[in-house]
Amino acid sequence: MSGSGYHSIPVTKLDRDQARAELIRLADEISRHDKLYHGQDAPVISDAEYDQLRKRNEKIEARFPELILENSPSNRVGSPMTSGSHFAKVAHAVPMLSLDNAFSPEDVFEFVAKVKRFLGLSEGDGLALLAEPKIDGLSASLRYEKGLFIQGLTRGDGKVGEDITENLRTIQDIPERLAGRDWPDVVEIRGEVYMAKDDFFALNQAQEKLGKPPFANPRNAAAGSLRQLDSRITATRHLRFFAYAWGEISAPFGETQQQCLEKMQTWGFAVNDLALICPDATAAIAQYNHIADLRARLSYDIDGVVYKVNRLDLQQRLGMVARAPRWAIAHKFPAEKARTFLKSVDYQVGRTGVITPVARLAPVTVGGVVVANATLHNADEIARLGLKIGDEVIIQRAGDVIPQVVEVAKTGADSRDIIFPLTCPSCHSRLEREEGEVAWRCSGGLVCPAQRVERLRHFVSRNAFDIDGLGRKQIEFLFNEGLIESPADIFTLQEKDQKREKRLKDYEGWGDLSVKNLWAAIDDKRIIAMDRLLFALGIRHIGQQNARLLCLNYLNMAAFSTAMESAQDTDSTAYQELLNIDGIGPKVADTLVAFFGEPHNLQVLAHLMAQVTVEDFVAPETDNSPLAGKTIVFTGSLEKMTRQEAKASAEKLGARVSGSVSRKTDILVAGPGAGSKLKKAETFGVRVLNEQDWLDLIT
Ligand code: IVH
Repeated sequence: MSGSGYHSIPVTKLDRDQARAELIRLADEISRHDKLYHGQDAPVISDAEYDQLRKRNEKIEARFPELILENSPSNRVGSPMTSGSHFAKVAHAVPMLSLDNAFSPEDVFEFVAKVKRFLGLSEGDGLALLAEPKIDGLSASLRYEKGLFIQGLTRGDGKVGEDITENLRTIQDIPERLAGRDWPDVVEIRGEVYMAKDDFFALNQAQEKLGKPPFANPRNAAAGSLRQLDSRITATRHLRFFAYAWGEISAPFGETQQQCLEKMQTWGFAVNDLALICPDATAAIAQYNHIADLRARLSYDIDGVVYKVNRLDLQQRLGMVARAPRWAIAHKFPAEKARTFLKSVDYQVGRTGVITPVARLAPVTVGGVVVANATLHNADEIARLGLKIGDEVIIQRAGDVIPQVVEVAKTGADSRDIIFPLTCPSCHSRLEREEGEVAWRCSGGLVCPAQRVERLRHFVSRNAFDIDGLGRKQIEFLFNEGLIESPADIFTLQEKDQKREKRLKDYEGWGDLSVKNLWAAIDDKRIIAMDRLLFALGIRHIGQQNARLLCLNYLNMAAFSTAMESAQDTDSTAYQELLNIDGIGPKVADTLVAFFGEPHNLQVLAHLMAQVTVEDFVAPETDNSPLAGKTIVFTGSLEKMTRQEAKASAEKLGARVSGSVSRKTDILVAGPGAGSKLKKAETFGVRVLNEQDWLDLIT
């Protein structure tokens, strides 16, 4: 390490000369790491350590603004390594949702049909949609209280965003104070921050003149600009904002999506002028085609068209599934394609042992991004493509989807066959494939290092334990050092480290601060939500949604574990109850039973449970809900709502919906034509409601 000799003096104690020397040292040091990270993909320090360098630099600059260097790292565009750790994290009052995608007109018709089925409308009934461009930028949520802009957040993971208020204040399209008077006391305006194409080109020209790397596309440029630590830099970047949605509001401000857009416009926001009301799917697709024709001439990048059910009362009834509303969909533009060569094929081992062939390509730019790898999915796909190494291929990249090889453009005389391996590239166990499946799997299970590493990576990933500072490199390192083998080891790591001669902080790429930060990040997750824990276990078929479903039904780990134990006997009521959960089929049930029947898994879980505290499950929106934790069964025909809607409304309030009546049923909602379930409920003394009673209860 180069050094001024002052690096250990706290910022508050530095004198001017020392500060000047430190700024020079830090600029060099940070630039060296940037090059190692970007140019050579070979960082020698951890992300956390790198962040510390930047932080120290910023602090010194804040104390001695007159000493800021021309080549200051804070003037350099956001290195991806700086992401995440500088802005305060703030929970969204209302989650920021994402959108499901449609890729064809058929998908759009299916979307409309599904919405109508959910709402119980017949095919011929009208359903007005608002169609508007899908802006290719970054979403932000702007909180106004009494008309004043008080806080702006990034989307983050949808639940927790980052506070970028000061940067957002620099955007002209974002009013400091709402115009007019008829705004609710509290209103969160949501929309997209983007950079216009012209501004993007101008920025890249300026970057080039300064010898800085250009941005790949306007979206990246907008992201880099929004993530600046110094809002004066953001201010020079000409970002813009389109309003298209809202979060928390203290009072409604319209009855339709369109009315709300108009209202937001009167308050001083830019709304997109291509937004159009379409009476049905056909009209929506016509607007999609119209917008697609205009795309190249628009002054900003778009990547599709969003359709939203216009009536807000219908939106309310439709609600959401997982992370996306049922009432909206993004119709994406076709993927961009490019031609390149297939150099070789590698094989990756996933968490559950699935082997995925990965194409190594001659690097090529697709839609502004350099692509050097693409997924080949599986052996059948390679056969279907008739792909050989050395072939010229067409690849495509759609938005955030992993690039794919779509076809062979030209096969060369020297092209060689791709030979799918017979054994696992990591542990050399035999590969096997279940009947009816396309994927080959490593049979090594627990002995396969690649699977174990992948499981650990999954365990700490964003939607699971979400432990900062444990990326692929760190997990692989700790695993190879024999420091972590199973999840519980993460929580005993600090203790173990203290007993070792060579400490973690002494290894290259770690260091004092990053290790300290890691201990803090781990300690932070010793209390964990039950759905995160179930998801983190990485059980096949237990994604976020099924994990939540299990939580909703069992509410705490003790009840869940007991149930899994009893369910080992498939004649048991516990097994029946598992199957009765609306949404859990036999395949998922059997996977769960098998997982919890495996002694090793139980041991791994027991060790983990000794280290962490699992919070009992509380469904959102269930505060004061009379239905939280209750078991509901619907039977007979419902007139005011569809079965699907009834089920969703119950789950939203924290109830579980079962398919059959038992002594444990709390409420039976019986419509006309109810038969045996009603009788059974009466013999068990279960509370029986008609549809109107039910509606009164939930509204
Ligand atoms: S509506 C609940 N409208 O697309 C509604 N999103 O893929 C949520 N986006 O996270 C979003 N243009 O960042 C909506 N006109 C538009 C949009 C739009 C761009 C982005 C937004 C969202 C992402 C989902």
